[in-house]
Amino acid sequence: MKIIVCKDAAEVAARAAEIMQAVVCEKSDAVLGLATGSTPLGLYHNLIDAHNREGIDYSHVTTVNLDEYAGLPADNDQSYAYFMRHNLFDGLGIAPTQTHIENGMATDPAAECARYDALLEALPRDIQLLGIGSNGHIAFNEPGTSFDTTTHVVDLKESTIRDNARFFASMEEVPRQAFTMGMKQIMDAKQILILATGEAKADAVYGMVEGEVTTALPASILQTHPACTLICDEAAARRLTNV
Ligand code: F6R
Repeated sequence: MKIIVCKDAAEVAARAAEIMQAVVCEKSDAVLGLATGSTPLGLYHNLIDAHNREGIDYSHVTTVNLDEYAGLPADNDQSYAYFMRHNLFDGLGIAPTQTHIENGMATDPAAECARYDALLEALPRDIQLLGIGSNGHIAFNEPGTSFDTTTHVVDLKESTIRDNARFFASMEEVPRQAFTMGMKQIMDAKQILILATGEAKADAVYGMVEGEVTTALPASILQTHPACTLICDEAAARRLTNV
């Protein structure tokens, strides 16, 4: 794993934008695997800014997202579909038909997972962007998830529900289940870019980089990916001994 430690979150966002833009500049019809959450917001802001200033063209890219809450329609402002449209796709001028995310309202979850598996198979990702949960989850693959998983529905752990409650009016409103891309599919991306900022991620980052590869800390599998880059700030890197 290549590790880049930056001074702060703004520098993480700037370095991450350079990497994402390089992928798109090299291949205008790149397939981008994308994430939601607070960590990538600075990166997304920078991509939109550079698109507006320098005209970097995203009209031919295709995107696939990691995950979506079960039970939230795409027009709910807490859904990940809504998040992506408002924080990235509209700003980059990416047509909705070129963006993909699980359907949180699917009435047949197994069929929805099979649909997304087929989609991921048909759209090999040039890069997969990830954040990391404070418990080491990637996408919604919580501790204990097998490394062989494909798209599936998960019961969110109490710690994840608590972490995500800040986006909702109350804890009770946080969905208890989500659709998520599986571990195997994350690892299938040609390149992985994982971002981590803030003190609250320091233990997870340490486990991911210097701990054993174990399903108890899902992100630790990234040690075995041939082209994975971690960009983190000094607070998240605090426990690393080897950088
Ligand atoms: C989001 C996702 C999650 C987040 C993780 C970190 O699509 O898959 O794994 O990346 O929970 O979230 P933030 O960035 O809000 O700390």
